[in-house]
Amino acid sequence: MTDLIAVVHGPNLNMLGKREIGIYGGKTLDDVNSEVKVEADKLGVSIECFQSNSEGELVTFIHKCRGRVKGVLLNAGAYTHYSIALRDAIAAAQVSVIEVHISNVFKRESFRHISVIAPVCIGQICGFGSQGYILALRALLEEKLDPWLI
Ligand code: DQA
Repeated sequence: MTDLIAVVHGPNLNMLGKREIGIYGGKTLDDVNSEVKVEADKLGVSIECFQSNSEGELVTFIHKCRGRVKGVLLNAGAYTHYSIALRDAIAAAQVSVIEVHISNVFKRESFRHISVIAPVCIGQICGFGSQGYILALRALLEEKLDPWLI
């Protein structure tokens, strides 16, 4: 297994820096990916960043992670709350995924309190802004228990 980590962003996250700045902050997606890259370099791993607004493209990307990446940091955006297809893709890919949200979804509307992907993820980090991706990267690299990785 390579030391490649996929950083996957779902719908509307290409609008970071312009979109609901009071909730998501002023950093662009490129800023966020650059911050993750700096941390990845420090930790000695490579990252591959992918964003799509399309559920099917995200499903296909997750499939392609199987056997190719050490793990995935996934902010599935709104698909988190209802995409059974994404949930099944994670299960099919047998890859370690950490669910990331920039905002604290539990402080927000009740429909955001549900994550259909959480049961197939190692864990979830939310509410720490873009720092959540860094925390997730560290957690992923420290994670020893996932049977799919060994
Ligand atoms: C989000 C939270 C989701 O509820 C929302 O649909 C997003 C972003 C977050 O990062 O806080 O698009 O995943």
